[in-house]
Amino acid sequence: MHIDILTILPELIDSPLKHSIIQRAKEKGIVEICLHNIRDYSLNKQKQVDDYAFGGGAGMVMCIEPIDLLITKLKSERTYDEIIYLSPDGERFCQKTANYLATRENIILLCGHYKGIDQRIRDHLITREISIGDYVLSGGELAAAVITDCIVRLLPGGISDETSALTDSFQDNLLAPPVYTRPASYKGWKIPDILLSGHQQKIDEWRHQKAEERTRKLRPDLLSGD
Ligand code: ADE
Repeated sequence: MHIDILTILPELIDSPLKHSIIQRAKEKGIVEICLHNIRDYSLNKQKQVDDYAFGGGAGMVMCIEPIDLLITKLKSERTYDEIIYLSPDGERFCQKTANYLATRENIILLCGHYKGIDQRIRDHLITREISIGDYVLSGGELAAAVITDCIVRLLPGGISDETSALTDSFQDNLLAPPVYTRPASYKGWKIPDILLSGHQQKIDEWRHQKAEERTRKLRPDLLSGD
């Protein structure tokens, strides 16, 4: 899979993409992630990427030209399944969207800043707008990092234990069951006996039951399919 991230602050997103699962996936050739600095595509001397909003009002707006030049260049190199703008007013990101995006070949993630981007970019170049939650970040970079992380761990070979991504919280609208590791007793705090029984079917049933209990208690909205 190939992911292009378009930003005016490549340093902000560089580090989260250099560690752990994402780094290993890059090394294995499972994913290729390219950061592009929008400022490099500004044609004016000051390398300006934002300007005042027509009609007045507080806050700067990201200019159309550098973003259009960059997207046009990328589109001449490959065909994109989705060109995504990260914005608090996009559709709310969830595991289902992550699963969908993980099955795409090429995607662009465009990070906004200031008051947003010129609407014409959204109207003519963007295929989808995504928010990672109902709060406003100072830019789309952290959102792009979150989405990239969610996608990459789903790619075949992205994590060592193939089944593990499938048993994540949310994959079946259930939170994950509790997990334990050695020692089986610590300060007298014991793990549930069933986990030491060696009876896999019973353990799986117990895990499912705990996942349901946990979901009912903490996130009942997931069970009603909201
Ligand atoms: N940019 C600013 N806030 C954001 C959010 N909540 N999700 C995605 N991109 C954003």
